[in-house]
Amino acid sequence: MSIRFDEKTSTFTLHTRASSYQMQLDPMGHLLHLYYGRKIGDASNFHLYPMADHGFSPDFYAYAGPSVRGSYSPDVLPQEYSAANRGDFRVTAADIVSAEGARGAEFLFDTYRIQPGAYTLEGLPAAFGDDCETLSVDLRDPVLGLRVRLFYGVYEARDVITRAAVLFNESDRRLTLEKAASACLDLPFGKWDMIQFHGRHAMERQMERSHLGRDIRRVGSLRGASSHHHNPFVILCERDAGEEYGSCYGVMPVYSGNHCTDIETDFNGSTRVVTGIHPDGFCWQLEPGAQFAAPQILFCCTHEGLGELSRKYHRFIRERLCRCTASQTSEVLINNWEATYFNFDQDKIYAIAQKAASLGVGLMVLDDGWFGKRDNDQSGLGDWFVNTDKLKGGLAPLIEKIHALGMKFGIWIEPEMVSEDSDLYRAHPDWALTLPGRTPILGRSQLVLDMSRPEVVDYLTDCFTRLLSENRIEYIKWDMNRNMADVYSHALPPERQGEVFHRYILGVYALLDRLTSRFPHVLFEGCAGGGGRFDAGMLAYVPQFWCSDNTDAIERLSIQYGTSFGYPVSAMGAHVSACPNHQTGRTVPLGTRGVVAMSGTFGYELDLNKLSRKELSLVKKQIARYQSYAPLIRTGDYYRLTNPAEADFWHGWQFAAPDASEALMNVVVVHPQGNPQPLHLEWKGLDPDAVYKVVRCELQGAHPGLPADGWAKECAGKTFTGAQLMYAGQTLPQLFGDYPSVQILIRKTGK
Ligand code: GLA
Repeated sequence: MSIRFDEKTSTFTLHTRASSYQMQLDPMGHLLHLYYGRKIGDASNFHLYPMADHGFSPDFYAYAGPSVRGSYSPDVLPQEYSAANRGDFRVTAADIVSAEGARGAEFLFDTYRIQPGAYTLEGLPAAFGDDCETLSVDLRDPVLGLRVRLFYGVYEARDVITRAAVLFNESDRRLTLEKAASACLDLPFGKWDMIQFHGRHAMERQMERSHLGRDIRRVGSLRGASSHHHNPFVILCERDAGEEYGSCYGVMPVYSGNHCTDIETDFNGSTRVVTGIHPDGFCWQLEPGAQFAAPQILFCCTHEGLGELSRKYHRFIRERLCRCTASQTSEVLINNWEATYFNFDQDKIYAIAQKAASLGVGLMVLDDGWFGKRDNDQSGLGDWFVNTDKLKGGLAPLIEKIHALGMKFGIWIEPEMVSEDSDLYRAHPDWALTLPGRTPILGRSQLVLDMSRPEVVDYLTDCFTRLLSENRIEYIKWDMNRNMADVYSHALPPERQGEVFHRYILGVYALLDRLTSRFPHVLFEGCAGGGGRFDAGMLAYVPQFWCSDNTDAIERLSIQYGTSFGYPVSAMGAHVSACPNHQTGRTVPLGTRGVVAMSGTFGYELDLNKLSRKELSLVKKQIARYQSYAPLIRTGDYYRLTNPAEADFWHGWQFAAPDASEALMNVVVVHPQGNPQPLHLEWKGLDPDAVYKVVRCELQGAHPGLPADGWAKECAGKTFTGAQLMYAGQTLPQLFGDYPSVQILIRKTGK
């Protein structure tokens, strides 16, 4: 039993393998947060909160009486779910307005339940699995007739606790939710660093770490998507926490729309995290009898450092969130986007596929431009019928020829969008999000479909059900290429316009749910102008997501590094593209491009017919290598060895099999140096007592004729103990040239 309730002290204690989470009901019925951190026993920790009179912190009437100045204030209590305008001046979880226009709610204990298994949330993605025990605590505001059910899903062995909140209107009048966060977490003591993953298009998830001060820090998006700009994942860690030591807390909303995580350190030095749907632009009318589910949050706590925190999230997302059964596994894909952009016909695509098949590629993906009137990005979105000017005879003959090569076939779609110049928009202009009386704000020349309308979701369901039923398609790339403006639904009344952003995401999830469950053999890859919606919500439906439109291998190092804090390598779409790179103009050796793309789903995005014979033979070798490394890369433990922000001259990361039977080291030199310093590696995740043999050692892209020559050959076949490799380490020769890389595979040979 991972959840305990002590009736004597009214204390709930949730235990995972390495952490404990504790709450207590106070005599008035408030649910107070007592502790979250390293594992402790079941005894209540209420003593942690000395009651003192905090000047200008108001008191509960019931405690203080009308005339006594008391010392029990909502402003300092660590409440699990407090609402605005009732004396808690910090960021609160909810902001509720009654039918009379009275803002304020106070949630008091009603009942609780402990149940085996995971809980579900209507219309929203959520983690699953039998290795979970769920606590639900019902709090109620008797004045409003509003019930809040707080969920805690405890995955004991995984050190993950999921949280969510569902609000029920049990009154006979409409209530207005101006904010309904998923969770509030108080960390009353400690000095914390905050790690967030900011970015921009083509430069997503750049890790940034800073000290928390006495202020409110906000990581959020108002773009209608989780965004390239602020990924919905935040870590709080001890000031001296590193990859291998220190307490860390992860906060990961399972949500793809406007998210918000506020972190406030108050006048007492207490830190509060409130996370969920972004309150700006949100306003939900909760009718009598109706309920509102706030998205799930994945909390994880470890005191073994950031590396362990990431590995826990990786395993959790792969095994408990992502429900897609189709997966790329060791299959290598090729995508025509950077090879042709819009300029292709069936012969060009077939020629790329033919060459790819001869090298071992198993999946040909046809990107944007195959449908409607779509010769550039100005038109055609919404018209999901094949463009027979480009693909003579339609899709079927091309798909058949590609299958005859022994390859699978995949296709790009962008369901949520519509071009002004499209039959769909001409037929249903009101299906787009536009403001009455104003010319629309365009993004990439396109408009956003109103996914809050059930008929739009139904229409798209039919379109893509037809596409997938009439054609043998084994992969879908689901794109979303603009952020939202003019958010107004022509189908909703004025007072419900504040619901559109969230209803939109519910529509996206409904469409994803229908298509992924109707076509379980189809592998869905998410995309949003690269990694603009790379979040746990999408990963519940799609097992992989195109990491970034930036395919420059050196830039990818920091993008993939940042992504790796929360998300597994098996989810990171990564391809080898042409050089000079189309986004940066940089040239990186093909071997190194392969090593970097192997830290992801691995594929190619270039015209293989333009490669030299030597390059083609390297591609063939890369494919074979990836196929043999795939299980280790996709399900192995991931270790970050360097931090690109610290401007080291090299970047390294490593995979280790969970049973320590083999490991794969990856190194890329990012700043060539004169008289380079020694490059010293310390392996991770090995069995110290075992003997490991270097099965393969490859140095690629190094300037020839210098000390590294011959080193890789000499290294292969050598044996070391795990202890030697982990504690003494290994020193590489001096590496010269633009962006050489080293990849070393070791395997246990015995004890
Ligand atoms: C987005 C994607 C690209 C490509 C283009 C097609 O930018 O991220 O990979 O599919 O759209 O228009």
